Amino acid sequence: MTVITTIEDLRVLAQKRVPRMFYDYADSGSWTESTYRANEADFQKIKLRQRVAVNMENRSTATKMVGQDVKMPVCIAPVGLTGMQSADGEIKAAKAAEKFGIPFTLSTMSICSIEDIAQNTQAPFWFQLYMMRDREAMAAMIERARQARCSALVLTLDLQVIGQRHKDLKNGLTAPPRPTVANLINLMTKPRWCLGMAGTRRHSFGNLVGHVKAVTDMKSLASWTNEQFDPRLSWPDVAWVKERWGGKLILKGIQDVEDARLAVQSGADAIVVSNHGGRQLDGAQSSIEALPAIVAAVGDQIEVWMDGGIRSGQDVLKAWALGARGTMIGRAMVYGLGAMGEAGVTKALQIIHKELDITMAFCGRTHIADVDRSILLPGTFPT
Ligand SMILES: Cc1cc2nc3c(=O)[nH]c(=O)nc-3n(C[C@H](O)[C@H](O)[C@H](O)COP(=O)(O)O)c2cc1C
Repeated sequence: MTVITTIEDLRVLAQKRVPRMFYDYADSGSWTESTYRANEADFQKIKLRQRVAVNMENRSTATKMVGQDVKMPVCIAPVGLTGMQSADGEIKAAKAAEKFGIPFTLSTMSICSIEDIAQNTQAPFWFQLYMMRDREAMAAMIERARQARCSALVLTLDLQVIGQRHKDLKNGLTAPPRPTVANLINLMTKPRWCLGMAGTRRHSFGNLVGHVKAVTDMKSLASWTNEQFDPRLSWPDVAWVKERWGGKLILKGIQDVEDARLAVQSGADAIVVSNHGGRQLDGAQSSIEALPAIVAAVGDQIEVWMDGGIRSGQDVLKAWALGARGTMIGRAMVYGLGAMGEAGVTKALQIIHKELDITMAFCGRTHIADVDRSILLPGTFPT
């Protein structure tokens, strides 16, 4: 039995335990996957300055994200089909996040519903909204998030149309998987996953089936998305969502300084510098490279967060040093969940927290609030 010490260990275990179509769905980017790779690789280029003979006692990584206390500047990113990585996956991840002391974001495209999360956790969670053509359904979904006492709404702006991920097309991604010969053969090698799924009734899109018109069957995720998602989404629609919701609003998927300025004008509470984990515009800058210019332009007017490529606490520290006041983790959570369920998500969070804390100490800081770009080696980070 391998001792799990890194997110990579969790990824390897998840690959063994999760049916191929769902593992591939997570471990892929669009087209050549250049942005997907750059998200991780660009973190590696940034070097830290080692400082010594500094009192490193009494450290804290605690801070706030949109006014909410967090044990570290990390939250769980919205990830579609999380409940296909492990049975009731969203509930498991939300529980792990709650116990750890960071926020969980539920995707519109989740398997467990908004109500499922509300019933199984006490801490307020966040809900991520995709804009669909059916505005009545949108209004109803916002209302359900309110009823479930969600404490922030995350509106994703970078998926009006879907980037092509070759593996999903080749695997014929569906939730639940179709009983084809290839799928059945693959499922036979995943007994743990099958057993989990046999024990839950949550096998399809819990937020949509029975709630959004025409959603009784979602054979092909990609073609369904192309039919239902609203390609017209623009800033007046953001204003519409903001008014309907009336609470904390986070805009996710900003990569450009101009868009960041428009986001500030929209009155949102935070923006997430994100390229959707390299799953949308292939060839876009990595998030960590895009971050500094956006922080310089709007960092004093709005909370700027980032996601994409975070696989360690060092990555979180580097993002913070470059001005991100929060981060989201997608695949790091997914791999933990696929590997070991709730315990795996907890493990992922522990790994990231410990590494963040110790690396901060090596850089001669004891409080995350005192970390800025002076911990980074000049010339090794984007400006
Ligand atoms: C499998 C998968 C599904 C995702 N589904 C959604 C989603 O439903 N809504 C959304 O806003 N972002 C979605 N994302 C993007 C994540 O929220 C986040 O931006 C991205 O995963 C960050 O990169 P990382 O995985 O390298 O941490 C998804 C990402 C992955 C990997």
